[in-house]
Amino acid sequence: MRVVIQNDYDKMCKWAAEYIKNRIIAHNSGEQAVRPFVLGLPTGSSPIGVYQQLVRMNRAGELSFANVVTFNMDEYLGLPHEHDQSYWYFMHDNFFDHLVDMKPEHINILNGMTEDPEAECRAYEEKIASYGGIDLFMGGIGVDGHIAFNEPFTSLASRTGVRNLTTDTRIVNSRFFGNDPEKVPSQALSVGVGTVFDSKEVLILINGHNKARALAATVEGGVSQKWTCSALQYHNGAIIACDEAACGELTVDTYKYFLDIEKRERL
Ligand code: GLP
Repeated sequence: MRVVIQNDYDKMCKWAAEYIKNRIIAHNSGEQAVRPFVLGLPTGSSPIGVYQQLVRMNRAGELSFANVVTFNMDEYLGLPHEHDQSYWYFMHDNFFDHLVDMKPEHINILNGMTEDPEAECRAYEEKIASYGGIDLFMGGIGVDGHIAFNEPFTSLASRTGVRNLTTDTRIVNSRFFGNDPEKVPSQALSVGVGTVFDSKEVLILINGHNKARALAATVEGGVSQKWTCSALQYHNGAIIACDEAACGELTVDTYKYFLDIEKRERL
């Protein structure tokens, strides 16, 4: 696992956006460009700066999304697209609507209004597989280490399915719902830990003091279903991009190791 420590949130976002850009450009210039680049995407406050950077690159003509297919991680169950807290709305508002060449038919987001959640999730997995899997999954992390909506104790082999949200997550996310946890949907559709794990590369953004415990558990703790993100310790292409503030619970050894080793790594 790589851990790329940047001074602050802005630098973390710039680094992550540059990494994604380079991956897309490398894909499109190789023989594999006959198939689209498949990009997994998250919502939340963590990726907003990355989306701003990617939009800037796209509008400056530095990065095309014409050959990119996206799959979002999750969606609240019961929220229609037009609800301003649905992840469909978030993604269009913060990202897709600002890109000059994103094809709407290349955007995949789980439908939170589906009448048959099981079938919706099965079809999502099948669609990912039909593209040959996800090339790069960008993700965020909850304060309890959840990845997508895979709360603590979700199986590390889980696939796309319905998830019950913990009270903790509903309290944390209530900041977007008038600070009322009861207004936060109690269930969501989410890709599984196994779905993320099957991606060729996984890039997780971890920033801010409130994520320090989660970062330490992900990087230094044992692999455990209690911290679902820790499953990435077994992934051969996992990168954590973080800021200094999130490093507060790492041991000095770990912190120094990654700063040292990354000096020799390239994007
Ligand atoms: C939600 C999402 C996660 C996201 C997490 C952290 O629970 N389902 O995918 O990683 O929030 O969000 P934030 O980046 O706002 O801290």
